[in-house]
Amino acid sequence: MKILGIETSCDDTGIAIYDDFKGIIANKTYKQNKIHNLYGGIVPELASRAHMKNILPLIKEVFRIAKISYYEIDCIAYTAGPGLIGSLLIGATLSKSLGFSWGIPIQEVNHMEGHLLTPMLENKNISFPFTALLISGKHTQIIKAIDLGNYEILGSSLDDAVGESLDKIAKLLGLGYPGGKKISELAKKNNYKNMNFPKPMVKNNKNLNFSFSGLKTFVINKIKELNINDYKIKANIAYSFEKAIIDTLIIKTQRALKITKHKNLIISGGVSSNNKLRYKFNKVFNKKKINTFYPSYDLCTDNGAMIAYAGMLNFKKNKNFKFDLKINVKPKWLISDIKY
Ligand SMILES: Nc1ncnc2c1ncn2[C@@H]1O[C@H](COP(=O)(O)OP(=O)(O)OP(=O)(O)O)[C@@H](O)[C@H]1O
Ligand SMILES: [Mg+2]
Repeated sequence: MKILGIETSCDDTGIAIYDDFKGIIANKTYKQNKIHNLYGGIVPELASRAHMKNILPLIKEVFRIAKISYYEIDCIAYTAGPGLIGSLLIGATLSKSLGFSWGIPIQEVNHMEGHLLTPMLENKNISFPFTALLISGKHTQIIKAIDLGNYEILGSSLDDAVGESLDKIAKLLGLGYPGGKKISELAKKNNYKNMNFPKPMVKNNKNLNFSFSGLKTFVINKIKELNINDYKIKANIAYSFEKAIIDTLIIKTQRALKITKHKNLIISGGVSSNNKLRYKFNKVFNKKKINTFYPSYDLCTDNGAMIAYAGMLNFKKNKNFKFDLKINVKPKWLISDIKY
């Protein structure tokens, strides 16, 4: 079976073809960084326009790379949510139009389920149940993944997501986007001086939620107070901020694993490409005989392959598939509310 994956939840246009025998046979992403960098954040209207401009050329490119024709595609999977409504509508409308004209089924996919399942796409040794930490631009969530489509959110961010906080502080430090990567690069230049930034919401043993806005304000005050033109001080801030975030994520994940008692831990989403985070998570959890799994670096951020894969698993499971031309988008769709 071959499935075309279409991802347009936010700013990146991701298109891929996944073959259930061969795996990913083509995967291309058009990144919109240059467009939004000018404004210091994503401008939804510009994101939708760029998707509209790039989506068809990207689909053609993916077919060229895969060396297959459209009539070899068995199903189209598209991101129905969560995300920006204008961006989601481009992917949804095009998916429905192509599916209708090619006469093939269309499977909607939850974007966060796409991130969650990515390590399974590459590693067949992972199976349900497992615990997952989803750390991306707009989400920080701990998930009890019971089975495909059956997810319980054990904890989530009450305000800024971890990626969002990294991006905001990176901007204030004049580092640019993606903030997490830039902060990480700068942190490496630090001489291991830790400024002991607070770890948010770790005192209450039972709490699995996150709140990074207080830490963000604390760091903003430090930036105002200290001389960030001094490269060493700037590197100290980056190091201490990154450390406070990683340590907090580890504490909460440890608590979640005590509840779920799972032996497999998936860490996924854009922030999971952070090497320091991977090193520390491996060190803490592998010692406790918990297996840690991450996506490969190029599949951490948004891409069409994760949508094609999640779409394929759900399409195969869904025996009562009905062709439906209604344009379905769900900007606030929670992973725990999936009902295909
Ligand atoms: N090496 C890195 N270290 C830490 N964070 C990183 C790194 N590389 C990218 N990021 C962060 O990853 C985030 C983007 O991830 P992703 O593409 O999964 O988010 P999104 O799709 O915008 O949000 P969501 O999936 O929640 O809708 C950005 O906040 C970016 O700073
Ligand atoms: Mg994402």
